[in-house]
Amino acid sequence: MAAPLPLRSDDDWWRDAVIYQIYPRSFADGNGDGTGDLSGVRAKLPYLVELGVDAVWFTPWYVSPLVDGGYDVADYRTIDPAFGTLGEAEKLIAEARELGLRTIVDIVPNHVSDQHHWFQAALAAGPGSPERELFHFRPGRGVDGELPPNDWPSEFSGNTWTRVADGEWYLHLFTPEQPDLNWAHPAVRREHEEILRFWFERGVAGVRIDSAALLAKDPGLPDFVKGVDPHPYVDQDELHDIYRSWRTIAREYAGVFVGEVWLPDAERFARYLRPDELHTAFNFNFLTCPWDSTCLQRAIDDTLAEHEPVGAPATWVLCNHDVTRTVTRYGREDTGFDFATKAFGTPTDLGLGTRRARAAALLTLALPGSVYLYQGEELGLPEVDIPRDRVQDPMHFRSGGTDPGRDGCRVPLPWAADEPHCGFGGDAGPWLPQPLDWADYAADRQAREPGSMLALYREALSLRRSGAGFGDGPLTWKPAPEGVLHFSRPGGLICLVNLSATPVALPGHRARLLSSGPLDGEGRLPQDTAVWLRA
Ligand code: GLC
Repeated sequence: MAAPLPLRSDDDWWRDAVIYQIYPRSFADGNGDGTGDLSGVRAKLPYLVELGVDAVWFTPWYVSPLVDGGYDVADYRTIDPAFGTLGEAEKLIAEARELGLRTIVDIVPNHVSDQHHWFQAALAAGPGSPERELFHFRPGRGVDGELPPNDWPSEFSGNTWTRVADGEWYLHLFTPEQPDLNWAHPAVRREHEEILRFWFERGVAGVRIDSAALLAKDPGLPDFVKGVDPHPYVDQDELHDIYRSWRTIAREYAGVFVGEVWLPDAERFARYLRPDELHTAFNFNFLTCPWDSTCLQRAIDDTLAEHEPVGAPATWVLCNHDVTRTVTRYGREDTGFDFATKAFGTPTDLGLGTRRARAAALLTLALPGSVYLYQGEELGLPEVDIPRDRVQDPMHFRSGGTDPGRDGCRVPLPWAADEPHCGFGGDAGPWLPQPLDWADYAADRQAREPGSMLALYREALSLRRSGAGFGDGPLTWKPAPEGVLHFSRPGGLICLVNLSATPVALPGHRARLLSSGPLDGEGRLPQDTAVWLRA
């Protein structure tokens, strides 16, 4: 077994951590019932140690009807029985910590499951009741209230209001099974502060905040008028007050936050990262960028520039449980990411995509700040076209079946090439079907192959951990031919990424640390390849 990693004791560990995202349902299946679970995760902790990450973020593991993959939480203080028990989660947090891995949990403050006892009580109590005030219940418009109270578009296409038997409507920015909470209500704030404490008390080091810019709503719930500011439910000013109070709680436990903040406006985005608000937020501009040096360089520069004034470190993420997997994205004609353009059967050159994803891994890990890795990214897993009759994601259903949904990046991981279902799911088989070539990606196979994606990640993370010049700190661009990214970091790290068709000569260096692919016969860096050098 791998030796435990030294646990970085400083309170600033998060400024340059590498955080591994676990989607518990698909990570590892300890009891062989086809659904991932906490015993599966506990068994794989040594794998994560060997990979060399600093922390693990769990997407929601709480009791949930799983209408939206766990982002419909019925009870924040209980682990879903499909995954295990609270006692097991506590053990897992402690074991991970002993191995040098910190734990981050996911809190979904914008909404709860319609099975949450608050919502059930609100339904039973009827119009005008205090129970309904915890949500956004309203009478409808039209002669008989048959029209929804406003015209807000859903984050998941379709309607945002559902009418209940007594005639009132309730708001849900996502599915009807995810009623939005009323954040103007003090009980909603109190409850979430207690949930934060509940998990910090159990030893978690951080909290990821789901849909962090959506909680507060304009109290008048006015119709949405495109282009008119402020937006009635995105980035409302009240949010900052909420996060300031959260920060005071985090301080007591030395806990950290990472917000899921999708905002195009850099200045508005940075406001969430002021020193008394969130520590970090996901940087999606980099993720949505096509494989293009100008776009990537601009995304890097903009990101660093927007973080600088507030003193927060940037985060870098290529992939997560919501977006098309990296090797697939980079192997398509359109290499950017946009929820609106996802389609079934998009032609993909996986060889090309994988080469680029390898280069992107070295680029990302050399940038200033922290990095998020999504489970399976280290195996180079592609997006899977899930057969229509097996799709579970509500984004698919709510699009009328045109959007393939997000299940394609959630397929259970291949652990063991020679076991049934690659070691996930016993006889039952996994909850989402694995493609026939999944064994080619199996972790045990890649662990033995020096040129594998897993080997690249292990080596890169080990260099990042031990070498100077990684993580927090400045970045200096160096002159480079068109289509080439070339920068240095203090401590002598040089990173060069060639996105052009012309091979480039390496700049002067003392040592070549790692490259994402072979150099050409003349020692030059070929297209879609990255290299780390020591000056
Ligand atoms: C976030 C999650 C996504 C979920 C949505 C609603 O965007 O990442 O998976 O569906 O919020 O909670």
